[in-house]
Amino acid sequence: MELEIRKLVRDYGTKRVLDLESVTIEKGTRTAIIGPNGAGKSTLLNIVSRIDVATEGEVVYESEDPRLVTQVFQQPYMLRTSVERNIQYPLRLRNWPEEGMKKRSNELMEDLGLLDLRHQKAWKLSGGETQKVALARALSFQPSLLLLDEPTANIDPATTAEIEEMLLKINREEGTTILFVTHNLAQARRVCNRLLFLDKGKLVESGDCQEILQNPKEEKTRRFIAGELLI
Ligand SMILES: Nc1ncnc2c1ncn2[C@@H]1O[C@H](COP(=O)(O)OP(=O)(O)O)[C@@H](O)[C@H]1O
Ligand SMILES: [Mg+2]
Repeated sequence: MELEIRKLVRDYGTKRVLDLESVTIEKGTRTAIIGPNGAGKSTLLNIVSRIDVATEGEVVYESEDPRLVTQVFQQPYMLRTSVERNIQYPLRLRNWPEEGMKKRSNELMEDLGLLDLRHQKAWKLSGGETQKVALARALSFQPSLLLLDEPTANIDPATTAEIEEMLLKINREEGTTILFVTHNLAQARRVCNRLLFLDKGKLVESGDCQEILQNPKEEKTRRFIAGELLI
């Protein structure tokens, strides 16, 4: 078990935006969170990464160490330094030796096609390049759990493919558990093996990703996948 969500509730004033029963995310799985706008997907991700706090309930992690959880945002923030230094930043914070830091960032830059950009100003990159640097930075310290909130929302297809490849590779080779929000059902199909479908703060359906996408049990899920349930 990577983590367990136990009766998680999030209220904003009198509005209940998240109301989940128990959900377990197993170690090494790749879980997509899908659902209409306002379903509570980002809220859930932010509570799991401890950016936000639940009103009721809790998330129980297998690892006690919160430094093993990391999140990639839709609009990542770049430090005003080079690409390479941005990627190495989490390692610097953790006092990695220079050699180890170089080796790790080189590997990540190579996998993501960033080596030519290593000395560029990270805050001046294109959207797709920024997203790849954000991913490399998030992966630098070999997190146990990687959270992504629509990581390819405004990204071109070629860069999207590179990012998806990287997610599959890191999951395969380092066993990183991946939990990601996506609007792109084709992406869910390509990347995930588990799926959570949220609507109005509730978990409507969860289980094997390919199975649900092919043959959803719930009418709401079916309508969403068919493109009938947008808001
Ligand atoms: N800071 C906030 N204050 C008030 N309402 C919020 C806040 N953040 C999110 N919400 C509301 O919570 C609901 C779920 O939002 P969110 O988790 O961002 O949905 P999703 O990511 O699925 O589109 C929405 O109705 C949104 O308006
Ligand atoms: Mg969102």
